[in-house]
Amino acid sequence: MVESLKTPDAMQQWSQKKYKMGKTVGLVPTMGALHRGHISLIEASKQENDLTVVSIFVNPTQFSAGEDFEKYPRDFAGDCKKLEQAGIDALFLPKTSDMYSEGFATYIEVRGISNRLCGAYRAGHFTGVATIVAKLFNTVMPTHAYFGLKDYQQCVVIRKMVSDLNIPVTLRFCDTVREHDGLAMSSRNTYLTSEQRLDAPILYKALCKASLLISERRLVKFREAASLMQQLLKSSAHISEIQYGSVYDSETLDDISEQDASSYSGKPVALAIAVKIGSTRLIDNLIVTVP
Ligand code: PAJ
Repeated sequence: MVESLKTPDAMQQWSQKKYKMGKTVGLVPTMGALHRGHISLIEASKQENDLTVVSIFVNPTQFSAGEDFEKYPRDFAGDCKKLEQAGIDALFLPKTSDMYSEGFATYIEVRGISNRLCGAYRAGHFTGVATIVAKLFNTVMPTHAYFGLKDYQQCVVIRKMVSDLNIPVTLRFCDTVREHDGLAMSSRNTYLTSEQRLDAPILYKALCKASLLISERRLVKFREAASLMQQLLKSSAHISEIQYGSVYDSETLDDISEQDASSYSGKPVALAIAVKIGSTRLIDNLIVTVP
């Protein structure tokens, strides 16, 4: 059985003890409904640290009104089995009322980047993410923390918060784990009907085609890559809304589709997409270095 810590106090005491013993602690924050993407983060942490802590907390403040907080997949028994198999050292499992006590009033807002891409469609989402991640850092006190590049904007927001607030943690961003047909693993993939599921790899296909255009220098402006992605997404029978799909500066997240590719020579750019298939929102991205 994995050792579970159910309150911030118990978690802090556990961590303080390990810290005094000189142990390195890796934290993998999650909202549960674990899949191989989550497990890859745990493996990365285990390779680098003496101890690995996973947190499971479906964080209400990062869901906007009308989003899927209530129906977000929860599978505690399944998660426990997977965590036991993965061989973690502790599971942090706080209650909502422990993380957000009555009268809770302090939020962390990473300005600018939080309002772009997903932030433009999910009001307050990244403030909720930054706030809970800061709270998890303060309770688990990890030396290292692991996040997936699948949520690229989340990585950029957390990196900025850690730098701006001098939080003493080393961040690691790990590659996206995909299904055999390229669909990025996500807890929300379970919402898709079997027909929608067949169409969902179109996101990754569009990213790969646009990425080739860039890496093989077959374009002048990034707009050509953005247009190719849009065209492919529009050809899908199941995509009901394209929220964004373009080429972005990998740090500022500015849309750079009107810029010449040559102005980014040698630098990474982010290709990123968000669509709705039926009522399910899917995101994906690829980071490409411009030749
Ligand atoms: P959640 O969606 O559960 O994801 C937890 C971590 O797993 C995140 O860092 C996410 O980027 C990573 N992840 C998800 N799918 C992945 C995949 N296919 N390959 C690799 N990594 C993947 O992201 C959150 O939870 C929350 O916002 C959280 C950071 C826990 C704050 O509440």
